[in-house]
Amino acid sequence: MSDNTEIIGLLQRAYNHELEVVTNFIANSTNLDGIRAEEIKKALAADVAEELSHAQQLANRIKQIGGLVPGSGELNFGSLPQPPKDTCDVIGVIKGVIDTEIAACKLYNTIIKATDGIDYVTQDLCITLLADEEEHLVLFRGYLKEYERDS
Ligand SMILES: [Fe+2]
Ligand SMILES: [Fe+2]
Repeated sequence: MSDNTEIIGLLQRAYNHELEVVTNFIANSTNLDGIRAEEIKKALAADVAEELSHAQQLANRIKQIGGLVPGSGELNFGSLPQPPKDTCDVIGVIKGVIDTEIAACKLYNTIIKATDGIDYVTQDLCITLLADEEEHLVLFRGYLKEYERDS
């Protein structure tokens, strides 16, 4: 692994993404009100731990290939869908999660392509993370179907 600056940069982007997701999922799993929100709050609260573990796995890999894990001053939040101000807007939350998971899948696909033939361990990690995000995506698309039918 000689020049892996590009791969380190991509991993740092993914790390940034995962921490922003943790922040928004904590907010959404706490802010929502109402009976209809209960299942979504539970699902998001459980996902917080999983997304945090994604961030930790990315941090380990950044270190492993010679990079530095960024501190808070180097992180950039705000590009992902924000928790709605209306605390009963369950559908808004679900749609935001779907867009967030789509962004994660795109990012991991980019890293999988960029590492092909160059860094199989990073590629393998990102394939595993992609599988997790695809699962989240399908789950929340299912929720959207149900919530839109009932509303
Ligand atoms: Fe994730
Ligand atoms: Fe996810």
